[in-house]
Amino acid sequence: MVPEGRVLVESGRQNCTGQLISPQMLSWVILRLGLRQRQTVVSKLDRLNESRAIFHAMRLDPAMAHHAARHIIDLYDRRATDWDRDRGKVLMEKGWLDKFVALLPSGGSILDIGCGSGDPVARYLIQQSYRVIGLDSSQRMIAMCERRFPDNEWIVADMRTIDLGRTYDGLLAWDSTFHLTPEDQEAVFSTFARHAHPGTAMMFTSGPEHGEAIGSWRGDELYHASLAPAEYRAALEANGFEIVDHVVEDETCGRHTVWLARAHGPSSPA
Ligand SMILES: C[S@@+](CC[C@H](N)C(=O)[O-])C[C@H]1O[C@@H](n2cnc3c(N)ncnc32)[C@H](O)[C@@H]1O
Repeated sequence: MVPEGRVLVESGRQNCTGQLISPQMLSWVILRLGLRQRQTVVSKLDRLNESRAIFHAMRLDPAMAHHAARHIIDLYDRRATDWDRDRGKVLMEKGWLDKFVALLPSGGSILDIGCGSGDPVARYLIQQSYRVIGLDSSQRMIAMCERRFPDNEWIVADMRTIDLGRTYDGLLAWDSTFHLTPEDQEAVFSTFARHAHPGTAMMFTSGPEHGEAIGSWRGDELYHASLAPAEYRAALEANGFEIVDHVVEDETCGRHTVWLARAHGPSSPA
């Protein structure tokens, strides 16, 4: 039994068919199961057919969590090429991306926060003729985006401290804010609000409950955290966003927990 909602989750690198467990899949296993007790982790993993992944759960010391959180930016920059290779390129996010862009004016601007290597998410949005501006703390991720999509704007920055002096029609933080500590996640909503105008759509993913979890990907510690649903609701409300749609562990999207919101004020779809 893990009493505090803090666990360590370790994984082997292969699933039962000998394929690599993608870091994206690992993130969701860590977030969904890592926040719960050991028995739950093991039994759900069996169901997920991750039989060659080895998961342990134990109490996670707060100092250990903070150490891992501090290294996330460095980890993604060091492992940018591996991340890009391992990340699933099948767009299971399509349904949610379509709901998100339905709130935007035709050809509107989207700030993709924690855009990674730009594929497949930014690629899809660019193909739909939206003006994507990508932001990531990793210089190497951004260099990949620049090579792939030279006509778009790409920015190396830490989402916790950005002040770009502009607003956007859409703010997307897909699988990126979950690498911030709970405290930083609470604070980042005011940063996002600075980049929104009335009607701006915002979509992000989270874990299902409050807690921190560390996974192991290619031998490196991979930190994740989540607020509780009530905490997200309060943060959105306090920063002028109303919830448009929210699904916990969406079966149609790799069991992502997704939040779609809009800044108060008139919307301006096409
Ligand atoms: C799991 S990847 C997701 C990438 C992309 N959104 C996708 O779905 O393919 C998380 C990304 O968030 C970035 N990231 C982590 N912490 C960040 C921070 N504080 N500011 C900006 N980007 C950050 C990482 O560099 C990485 O590219």
